[in-house]
Amino acid sequence: MRSELKAESVKMKVKYIAIAFGFLLFAFGFQHCSEKKSDSNISSASSVKQQQYYVHGEQLYIKHCSNCHQKNGTGLGLLYPPLAKSDYVDNNFESVICLMRYGIEGELVVNGKSFNKAMPGIPSLSDLEIAEIATYLYNTWEHQRDSIELKDVSRILDNCRQATISK
Ligand code: HEC
Repeated sequence: MRSELKAESVKMKVKYIAIAFGFLLFAFGFQHCSEKKSDSNISSASSVKQQQYYVHGEQLYIKHCSNCHQKNGTGLGLLYPPLAKSDYVDNNFESVICLMRYGIEGELVVNGKSFNKAMPGIPSLSDLEIAEIATYLYNTWEHQRDSIELKDVSRILDNCRQATISK
């Protein structure tokens, strides 16, 4: 009788250990997955504010830009230049900010291909919305840039306003 009880309690112990071990495995696995998920979209812009910019920026991009440049940023033939992997985007941060509000025209070379069709500006975009779209553009499609600050975007927009007025 005693040995039976003992065997029973050993069985229970093994059961508890197995359950605890299973739980640990689950917890670790879960943590691993969620870590992976959180840094997949946005790696350089990590603060909460930058993440909000990114999320709004994506929505604004789809609404205002994807008609021409396409949802995945590839552009469309020789009509609309690509934004994904565009050397122009990489090298001309200030012009990219300005052209969202004021548009751009004349010949433009992107990744060695020439484009020449006017892009209309979108004057209704606020400074904040432009900063948000820029955060999206510069943190997706392999472009990488440190966090984009609203005050810097406003300063750039003030300068391009002066440039267009003095023309
Ligand atoms: C009506 C179509 C149209 C819309 C909408 C549009 N673009 Fe463009 N975009 C163009 C064209 C056409 C050019 C090439 C201009 C040229 O040849 O001078 C261009 C050029 C550009 C360039 C520089 C070249 C490159 O590909 O790197 C950027 C950056 C850009 N657009 C970003 C945007 C963003 C951001 C938006 C939304 C806020 C937007 N565009 C909305 C048509 C459009």
